[in-house]
Amino acid sequence: MPAEHYERLVHAVVDYAIYMLDPEGYVVSWNPGAQRIKGYRADEVIGRHFSLFFTAQDCAEGRPAMLLNQALEHGVAQDEGWRLRKDGTPFWALTALDVVRDDQGQVIGLAKVTRDISDRRESSLQLDAMRAQLFHAQKLEALGQLTGGLAHDFNNLLTIILGSARLARASADPARVDSLLGHIVEAGQRGAQLTQVLLGFARHRQLNTALIAPAELIASTCNLIEHALPESIALRACVAEALPQMDVDVGQLQMVLLNLVFNARDAIAEQGCVRLGVSQVVLGGEVEGLHGAFLRFDVEDDGQGIDPEVLPRIFEPFFTTKAFGKGTGLGLSQVYGFAKQSGGAVSVTSTVGQGTCMSLYLPISSSPIPSSEQRC
Ligand SMILES: Nc1ncnc2c1ncn2[C@@H]1O[C@H](COP(=O)(O)OP(=O)(O)OP(=O)(O)O)[C@@H](O)[C@H]1O
Ligand SMILES: [Mg+2]
Repeated sequence: MPAEHYERLVHAVVDYAIYMLDPEGYVVSWNPGAQRIKGYRADEVIGRHFSLFFTAQDCAEGRPAMLLNQALEHGVAQDEGWRLRKDGTPFWALTALDVVRDDQGQVIGLAKVTRDISDRRESSLQLDAMRAQLFHAQKLEALGQLTGGLAHDFNNLLTIILGSARLARASADPARVDSLLGHIVEAGQRGAQLTQVLLGFARHRQLNTALIAPAELIASTCNLIEHALPESIALRACVAEALPQMDVDVGQLQMVLLNLVFNARDAIAEQGCVRLGVSQVVLGGEVEGLHGAFLRFDVEDDGQGIDPEVLPRIFEPFFTTKAFGKGTGLGLSQVYGFAKQSGGAVSVTSTVGQGTCMSLYLPISSSPIPSSEQRC
């Protein structure tokens, strides 16, 4: 393409400021896009230093010189930030500064392309603000549900405790008093359990950790679960070979796995299969920003799956889709709290009509032992 065609092309562009700087940063050419965006005519700006377009603060911090040096050293410098128009109004600019060389490789100047992306920035800020508002609203809603649910559950327990205590005080029959005291103790214990779950969620629950081989843990969990699953649901354990042992609160981890398996059981309408697997993975930030070696416990079912609308809420305390009296909605919040407190994470993949896989990631103990044969 002949040189004048290039010139025409550059002059036809009005959405981008395209101009040349000499190697010291002085403006040597100017296109209509530059005039439209920055407000200067060519005769007002040619020969002036490009720091003219920067804010006083950027100039004081040496930003123009820094960008110029970067471009001269690396061939290109990109930037995003405030720039000033001739009338002093700021705009948010996306800029690129490219070194231009002659046939001998000598630097003859720099090509500067600037785009005004103030609108784009404005909409992205608005979007962020809306997201923050939504998040805040969701948190408040969750908090409301938490307090409502808590008050409701403790109220039920207190009704039992107070009612039984009053009846016991009024009764002269020792057997009846004994049975009423039994109700009181049971309700008190349930209240204590509830507090434990909540403390777990708030990550204040103490973890009593011990070293255990994952295969051993899966075997004992399977023993526990087997009797709780109907015959129509098969349980399959799948333990990878030579896993390192883990330093974990065994009791709590079992409760967590039970919760996941019971959820899987509830998701299967008639016949189905639940797979309980454990393997070793190395994460590079893809799961909640975690890095390093982790054990991954998978509880996978071929049940009904989770509706995408419901999915974002399943870890909220007291969120349940189960019928009244069937679910408290505390299972997954317990799983979540445990995962976080152990320095891990929990993730979910689900397809409606096909099934769900809940994965619990727990960090690997630093003292590995060879363990376990393949049981898959
Ligand atoms: N494997 C799964 N398949 C389909 N839906 C699931 C699965 N696991 C969880 N869910 C959904 O997540 C919701 C919350 O689960 P969570 O375990 O916290 O409470 P829950 O099972 O309803 O009650 P509970 O306190 O008795 O565990 C469930 O009501 C269900 O809608
Ligand atoms: Mg549950």
